Amino acid sequence: MDNRIHLKTPDEIEAMRVAGQQAASVLRLVRDYVKPGVTTGELDRICHEYIVDELKAVPAPLNYRGFPKSICTSLNHVICHGIPGDKVLKDGDILNIDVTVIQDGWHGDTSKMFYVGEPSVKARRICEVAHQALLTGIEMVRPGVTLGDIGHAIQAYAEGQRCSVVREYCGHGIGRGFHEAPQVLHYGRPGEGVVLEPGMTFTIEPMINLGKRHTRLLPDEWTVITRDRSLSAQWEHTMAVTDDGVDVLTRLPDDEL
Ligand code: MF3
Ligand code: CO
Ligand code: CO
Repeated sequence: MDNRIHLKTPDEIEAMRVAGQQAASVLRLVRDYVKPGVTTGELDRICHEYIVDELKAVPAPLNYRGFPKSICTSLNHVICHGIPGDKVLKDGDILNIDVTVIQDGWHGDTSKMFYVGEPSVKARRICEVAHQALLTGIEMVRPGVTLGDIGHAIQAYAEGQRCSVVREYCGHGIGRGFHEAPQVLHYGRPGEGVVLEPGMTFTIEPMINLGKRHTRLLPDEWTVITRDRSLSAQWEHTMAVTDDGVDVLTRLPDDEL
Protein backbone atom coordinates (compact mmCIF):
# COMPACT_ATOMS: atom_id res chain seq x y z
CA MET A 1 0.00 0.00 0.00
CA ASP A 2 1.28 3.43 -0.99
CA ASN A 3 -0.08 6.00 1.43
CA ARG A 4 1.76 8.96 -0.04
CA ILE A 5 -0.31 11.62 -1.73
CA HIS A 6 0.87 12.25 -5.29
CA LEU A 7 0.75 15.99 -6.02
CA LYS A 8 0.15 16.69 -9.72
CA THR A 9 1.89 19.33 -11.85
CA PRO A 10 -0.20 21.73 -13.95
CA ASP A 11 0.53 19.60 -17.05
CA GLU A 12 -0.59 16.47 -15.26
CA ILE A 13 -3.81 18.18 -14.18
CA GLU A 14 -4.47 19.10 -17.82
CA ALA A 15 -4.04 15.43 -18.75
CA MET A 16 -6.47 14.48 -15.98
CA ARG A 17 -8.91 17.08 -17.28
CA VAL A 18 -9.00 15.24 -20.62
CA ALA A 19 -9.85 11.98 -18.84
CA GLY A 20 -12.37 13.77 -16.61
CA GLN A 21 -14.16 15.44 -19.51
CA GLN A 22 -14.31 12.13 -21.33
CA ALA A 23 -15.86 10.40 -18.31
CA ALA A 24 -18.44 13.18 -18.08
CA SER A 25 -19.20 12.84 -21.79
CA VAL A 26 -20.13 9.18 -21.22
CA LEU A 27 -22.79 10.20 -18.68
CA ARG A 28 -24.13 12.72 -21.19
CA LEU A 29 -24.20 10.09 -23.95
CA VAL A 30 -25.97 7.43 -21.86
CA ARG A 31 -28.59 9.85 -20.46
CA ASP A 32 -30.94 9.41 -23.44
CA TYR A 33 -30.95 5.63 -23.05
CA VAL A 34 -32.04 5.58 -19.40
CA LYS A 35 -35.73 4.75 -19.94
CA PRO A 36 -38.26 2.15 -18.74
CA GLY A 37 -37.61 -1.18 -20.49
CA VAL A 38 -33.84 -0.91 -20.95
CA THR A 39 -31.56 -3.27 -19.01
CA THR A 40 -28.52 -2.16 -17.02
CA GLY A 41 -26.50 -4.56 -19.17
CA GLU A 42 -27.56 -2.65 -22.30
CA LEU A 43 -26.47 0.62 -20.68
CA ASP A 44 -23.10 -1.00 -19.92
CA ARG A 45 -22.68 -2.07 -23.54
CA ILE A 46 -23.58 1.42 -24.84
CA CYS A 47 -21.02 3.02 -22.50
CA HIS A 48 -18.36 0.40 -23.20
CA GLU A 49 -18.61 0.86 -26.96
CA TYR A 50 -18.53 4.66 -26.70
CA ILE A 51 -15.50 4.61 -24.36
CA VAL A 52 -13.52 2.16 -26.48
CA ASP A 53 -14.58 3.08 -30.04
CA GLU A 54 -15.19 6.86 -29.82
CA LEU A 55 -13.06 8.05 -26.90
CA LYS A 56 -10.22 5.54 -27.53
CA ALA A 57 -10.08 5.22 -23.75
CA VAL A 58 -10.13 2.32 -21.29
CA PRO A 59 -13.10 1.63 -18.98
CA ALA A 60 -11.30 1.43 -15.62
CA PRO A 61 -13.83 -0.82 -13.79
CA LEU A 62 -13.55 -3.69 -16.30
CA ASN A 63 -11.50 -6.42 -14.60
CA TYR A 64 -10.58 -4.03 -11.76
CA ARG A 65 -10.12 -6.42 -8.82
CA GLY A 66 -12.33 -8.82 -10.76
CA PHE A 67 -15.22 -6.42 -11.49
CA PRO A 68 -16.86 -7.90 -14.60
CA LYS A 69 -18.31 -4.82 -16.38
CA SER A 70 -17.31 -1.37 -17.68
CA ILE A 71 -19.57 0.83 -15.51
CA CYS A 72 -21.35 0.50 -12.17
CA THR A 73 -25.16 0.70 -12.17
CA SER A 74 -26.73 1.10 -8.71
CA LEU A 75 -30.53 0.98 -8.61
CA ASN A 76 -32.87 2.25 -5.85
CA HIS A 77 -31.66 0.68 -2.57
CA VAL A 78 -28.30 -0.26 -4.10
CA ILE A 79 -25.71 2.13 -2.63
CA CYS A 80 -22.80 1.49 -5.01
CA HIS A 81 -20.88 -1.01 -7.17
CA GLY A 82 -24.01 -2.51 -8.75
CA ILE A 83 -23.08 -4.89 -11.59
CA PRO A 84 -24.87 -4.28 -14.91
CA GLY A 85 -26.95 -7.27 -16.03
CA ASP A 86 -30.46 -8.40 -16.96
CA LYS A 87 -32.29 -6.00 -14.61
CA VAL A 88 -34.98 -4.11 -16.56
CA LEU A 89 -35.51 -0.47 -15.56
CA LYS A 90 -39.08 0.54 -14.70
CA ASP A 91 -40.93 3.82 -14.27
CA GLY A 92 -40.07 5.46 -10.94
CA ASP A 93 -36.65 3.83 -10.46
CA ILE A 94 -33.60 5.90 -9.58
CA LEU A 95 -30.27 4.80 -11.02
CA ASN A 96 -26.68 5.81 -10.32
CA ILE A 97 -24.31 5.36 -13.24
CA ASP A 98 -20.64 5.56 -12.25
CA VAL A 99 -18.11 5.96 -15.07
CA THR A 100 -14.33 5.86 -14.80
CA VAL A 101 -12.15 6.13 -17.90
CA ILE A 102 -8.39 5.90 -18.33
CA GLN A 103 -7.00 8.19 -21.03
CA ASP A 104 -3.26 8.36 -21.66
CA GLY A 105 -2.67 6.70 -18.28
CA TRP A 106 -4.83 9.14 -16.28
CA HIS A 107 -8.16 8.42 -14.57
CA GLY A 108 -11.39 10.45 -14.60
CA ASP A 109 -14.18 9.26 -12.25
CA THR A 110 -17.72 10.67 -12.08
CA SER A 111 -21.27 9.55 -11.35
CA LYS A 112 -24.78 10.92 -11.43
CA MET A 113 -28.32 9.92 -10.53
CA PHE A 114 -30.88 9.38 -13.30
CA TYR A 115 -34.66 9.26 -13.01
CA VAL A 116 -36.33 6.45 -14.93
CA GLY A 117 -39.61 8.05 -16.00
CA GLU A 118 -41.22 10.00 -13.15
CA PRO A 119 -39.68 9.72 -9.65
CA SER A 120 -41.72 9.56 -6.43
CA VAL A 121 -41.39 12.45 -3.98
CA LYS A 122 -39.03 10.34 -1.83
CA ALA A 123 -36.90 9.29 -4.79
CA ARG A 124 -36.50 12.87 -6.00
CA ARG A 125 -35.65 14.00 -2.49
CA ILE A 126 -32.81 11.52 -1.88
CA CYS A 127 -31.29 12.35 -5.28
CA GLU A 128 -31.44 16.09 -4.55
CA VAL A 129 -30.01 15.73 -1.04
CA ALA A 130 -27.12 13.59 -2.33
CA HIS A 131 -26.41 16.14 -5.08
CA GLN A 132 -26.40 19.01 -2.61
CA ALA A 133 -24.13 16.95 -0.32
CA LEU A 134 -21.58 16.73 -3.14
CA LEU A 135 -21.84 20.47 -3.85
CA THR A 136 -21.45 21.23 -0.12
CA GLY A 137 -18.19 19.25 -0.14
CA ILE A 138 -16.86 20.82 -3.35
CA GLU A 139 -17.55 24.33 -2.07
CA MET A 140 -15.23 23.68 0.90
CA VAL A 141 -12.20 22.71 -1.20
CA ARG A 142 -9.21 25.10 -1.09
CA PRO A 143 -5.67 25.03 0.35
CA GLY A 144 -5.54 24.95 4.15
CA VAL A 145 -8.91 23.25 4.60
CA THR A 146 -8.73 19.70 6.06
CA LEU A 147 -10.45 16.56 4.85
CA GLY A 148 -12.18 16.49 8.25
CA ASP A 149 -13.66 19.93 7.50
CA ILE A 150 -15.07 18.59 4.22
CA GLY A 151 -16.43 15.38 5.72
CA HIS A 152 -18.01 17.31 8.56
CA ALA A 153 -19.72 19.76 6.21
CA ILE A 154 -21.19 16.94 4.13
CA GLN A 155 -22.35 15.01 7.20
CA ALA A 156 -23.87 18.09 8.86
CA TYR A 157 -25.80 18.93 5.70
CA ALA A 158 -27.07 15.38 5.03
CA GLU A 159 -28.02 14.61 8.64
CA GLY A 160 -29.67 18.05 8.86
CA GLN A 161 -31.92 16.81 6.05
CA ARG A 162 -32.69 13.71 8.18
CA CYS A 163 -30.76 11.48 5.80
CA SER A 164 -27.71 9.34 6.67
CA VAL A 165 -24.14 9.12 5.35
CA VAL A 166 -22.62 5.76 4.38
CA ARG A 167 -19.35 5.17 6.29
CA GLU A 168 -17.85 2.06 4.68
CA TYR A 169 -17.12 3.62 1.27
CA CYS A 170 -15.50 6.94 0.52
CA GLY A 171 -13.91 9.24 -2.02
CA HIS A 172 -10.25 8.83 -2.90
CA GLY A 173 -7.14 10.32 -4.38
CA ILE A 174 -6.95 9.68 -8.13
CA GLY A 175 -4.42 10.10 -10.92
CA ARG A 176 -2.36 7.39 -12.59
CA GLY A 177 -4.00 5.18 -9.99
CA PHE A 178 -7.79 4.60 -9.78
CA HIS A 179 -7.80 4.69 -5.98
CA GLU A 180 -4.85 6.60 -4.49
CA ALA A 181 -4.29 8.15 -1.08
CA PRO A 182 -5.92 9.93 0.65
CA GLN A 183 -9.29 8.47 1.60
CA VAL A 184 -11.94 11.19 1.43
CA LEU A 185 -14.53 10.38 4.10
CA HIS A 186 -17.97 11.97 3.83
CA TYR A 187 -18.22 12.42 7.61
CA GLY A 188 -15.73 13.73 10.15
CA ARG A 189 -14.64 16.37 12.56
CA PRO A 190 -13.52 19.92 11.70
CA GLY A 191 -9.76 20.45 11.70
CA GLU A 192 -8.89 16.75 11.56
CA GLY A 193 -7.06 14.88 8.81
CA VAL A 194 -4.99 15.82 5.79
CA VAL A 195 -4.54 19.53 5.04
CA LEU A 196 -5.32 20.32 1.38
CA GLU A 197 -2.53 21.65 -0.86
CA PRO A 198 -2.47 22.83 -4.48
CA GLY A 199 -1.95 19.87 -6.85
CA MET A 200 -3.92 17.33 -4.84
CA THR A 201 -6.47 15.46 -6.97
CA PHE A 202 -9.31 13.43 -5.48
CA THR A 203 -12.96 12.53 -5.74
CA ILE A 204 -15.85 13.46 -3.50
CA GLU A 205 -18.71 10.95 -3.86
CA PRO A 206 -21.13 10.95 -0.92
CA MET A 207 -23.52 8.01 -0.63
CA ILE A 208 -26.64 9.24 1.16
CA ASN A 209 -29.46 7.01 2.45
CA LEU A 210 -33.08 7.95 3.10
CA GLY A 211 -33.09 5.55 6.08
CA LYS A 212 -30.25 4.32 8.27
CA ARG A 213 -26.60 4.42 7.17
CA HIS A 214 -25.85 0.69 7.52
CA THR A 215 -24.81 -1.37 4.52
CA ARG A 216 -24.90 -4.99 3.40
CA LEU A 217 -22.66 -6.62 0.78
CA LEU A 218 -24.50 -9.07 -1.49
CA PRO A 219 -23.07 -12.55 -2.18
CA ASP A 220 -21.74 -11.35 -5.56
CA GLU A 221 -19.17 -9.56 -3.36
CA TRP A 222 -19.67 -6.24 -5.19
CA THR A 223 -23.24 -4.97 -4.83
CA VAL A 224 -23.68 -2.85 -1.69
CA ILE A 225 -27.26 -2.25 -0.47
CA THR A 226 -28.90 -0.39 2.41
CA ARG A 227 -29.48 -2.79 5.29
CA ASP A 228 -32.99 -1.36 5.81
CA ARG A 229 -33.66 -1.37 2.01
CA SER A 230 -34.20 2.41 2.05
CA LEU A 231 -33.39 4.39 -1.08
CA SER A 232 -29.79 5.56 -1.57
CA ALA A 233 -28.25 8.11 -3.92
CA GLN A 234 -24.73 9.18 -4.91
CA TRP A 235 -23.06 11.82 -7.09
CA GLU A 236 -19.33 12.02 -7.78
CA HIS A 237 -16.82 14.45 -9.25
CA THR A 238 -13.04 14.33 -9.71
CA MET A 239 -11.31 17.60 -8.75
CA ALA A 240 -7.96 19.29 -8.27
CA VAL A 241 -6.99 21.72 -5.51
CA THR A 242 -5.80 25.01 -7.06
CA ASP A 243 -3.87 27.90 -5.46
CA ASP A 244 -7.10 29.49 -4.27
CA GLY A 245 -9.90 26.94 -4.62
CA VAL A 246 -11.04 23.97 -6.66
CA ASP A 247 -11.06 22.90 -10.30
CA VAL A 248 -13.76 20.30 -11.01
CA LEU A 249 -12.23 18.16 -13.75
CA THR A 250 -15.37 16.12 -14.51
CA ARG A 251 -17.74 19.08 -14.92
CA LEU A 252 -18.63 19.79 -18.54
CA PRO A 253 -18.58 23.49 -19.55
CA ASP A 254 -22.36 23.74 -19.92
CA ASP A 255 -23.28 21.54 -16.93
CA GLU A 256 -24.79 22.80 -13.69
CA LEU A 257 -22.34 20.56 -11.72
N1 MF3 B 1 -16.06 4.25 -9.67
C1 MF3 B 1 -16.06 3.73 -8.32
C2 MF3 B 1 -15.52 4.84 -7.45
O1 MF3 B 1 -16.08 5.89 -7.51
C3 MF3 B 1 -15.26 2.50 -8.15
C4 MF3 B 1 -15.80 1.35 -8.84
S1 MF3 B 1 -14.76 0.02 -8.60
C5 MF3 B 1 -15.49 -1.16 -9.52
O2 MF3 B 1 -14.53 4.78 -6.79
F1 MF3 B 1 -14.66 -2.13 -9.57
F2 MF3 B 1 -16.62 -1.48 -8.97
F3 MF3 B 1 -15.70 -0.68 -10.71
CO1 CO C 1 -14.53 7.27 -7.18
CO1 CO D 1 -16.80 6.39 -9.42
